[in-house]
Amino acid sequence: MGSAALLGYLLGSIPFGLLLTKLGGAGDIRDIGSGNIGATNVLRTGRKGLAALTLLLDLLKGLAAVLIARQLFPGFEVFAAVSAFFGHLYPVWLGFKGGKGVATYAGILFGLNWPLGLIYGAVWISMLLLTRISSLSGLIAAAAAPLAAVFFGSVTIVIPLVACSLIVFWKHRENIQRLMAGTEPRIGQK
Ligand code: G3P
Repeated sequence: MGSAALLGYLLGSIPFGLLLTKLGGAGDIRDIGSGNIGATNVLRTGRKGLAALTLLLDLLKGLAAVLIARQLFPGFEVFAAVSAFFGHLYPVWLGFKGGKGVATYAGILFGLNWPLGLIYGAVWISMLLLTRISSLSGLIAAAAAPLAAVFFGSVTIVIPLVACSLIVFWKHRENIQRLMAGTEPRIGQK
């Protein structure tokens, strides 16, 4: 269990948004926009390619944590998944100030139970197309994940997913305040 959790944490804590923007010469993402290290904020640098890559790699590290754990530590995938998620949100390398978890959540869901990943992705993308507000779309997808797990997943992952979704909401508390005030920017706005 400890090894699966460590593997997950180490993978999840790789701050791709920060690394890619620094390597790509776009500055320190923590000094830009919302200061978040996720793809939405990377997009605010105007570097669409870097933003897409951040999204992809943040998703893939969650997926990789589960798939590798399934091979090395069968039966402990959920520990690796939740640890990867926490690694992204609270990376030791960045003083525990990480991202908000939406992309990594997708990755762990695809690894744990791909239909749940598809549902999450469909809700997320539909809401993005409908609202063009990244935080709101991520929050609705996160709320949908444990609910979908009740119907299409296994009982054992419902509680961990409830915990992950609650933390997504906690991490988005400033976004939620802006959403309620009507000041949350849409994709493409600074
Ligand atoms: O996935 C992060 C997104 O939901 C919000 O990002 O930068 O607008 O706070 P940001």
